[in-house]
Amino acid sequence: MNTDISKILIDKDELEKITDHIAEKINRDYADISKPLLLLIILKGSVMFAADLMKKITLPLEIEFMKVSSYGAGTKNSGEIKIHLDLTRDHLEMYNILIIEDIIDSGRTLSRLSQLLKNRNANSVKTCILLDKPSRREVPFTPDYVGRVIPDEFVVGYGLDYNEKYRNLPYVGILKPEVYS
Ligand code: PRP
Repeated sequence: MNTDISKILIDKDELEKITDHIAEKINRDYADISKPLLLLIILKGSVMFAADLMKKITLPLEIEFMKVSSYGAGTKNSGEIKIHLDLTRDHLEMYNILIIEDIIDSGRTLSRLSQLLKNRNANSVKTCILLDKPSRREVPFTPDYVGRVIPDEFVVGYGLDYNEKYRNLPYVGILKPEVYS
């Protein structure tokens, strides 16, 4: 285990089970769709989760990437989303979009991104999240697929970072407070 990690929260085997379970549900729920499934992978944190999950989805699918950030509450831009990298296709009415995210915290990013894609006329928009911290929610938002509900701990690994580090750890771990305080 990395020495900056105080505890492994979700190990490799558990992550396998989580992606198995979510993929099964997706395979079932999207079995009869007439328009293609488009996995919208949100950079950077969800890359490892998305890569593992999509290998287990047996339906035809396409992928796109976006990088976004939300403005916090109380700023003049509150309610807006900043797009750092946009997806590369128009005509979203042709697709059933499934947003893939590593974590939902305040809920701002996902609620605004979902709304943006609906405004762009996507045929459907659903959300698939590895980690849900409901205790941190500031805007009401319930994801469609959730890997694991977690307490309000500083988690890194399996795509999640602190100062861009630890994304490559093959597990989700709790970062020691002395590393970030
Ligand atoms: C994380 C995560 C979501 C957002 C969730 O991204 O991937 O996009 O924060 O927070 P919210 O629910 O409070 O809006 P981050 O900005 O850390 O970017 P990264 O994935 O590139 O590390």
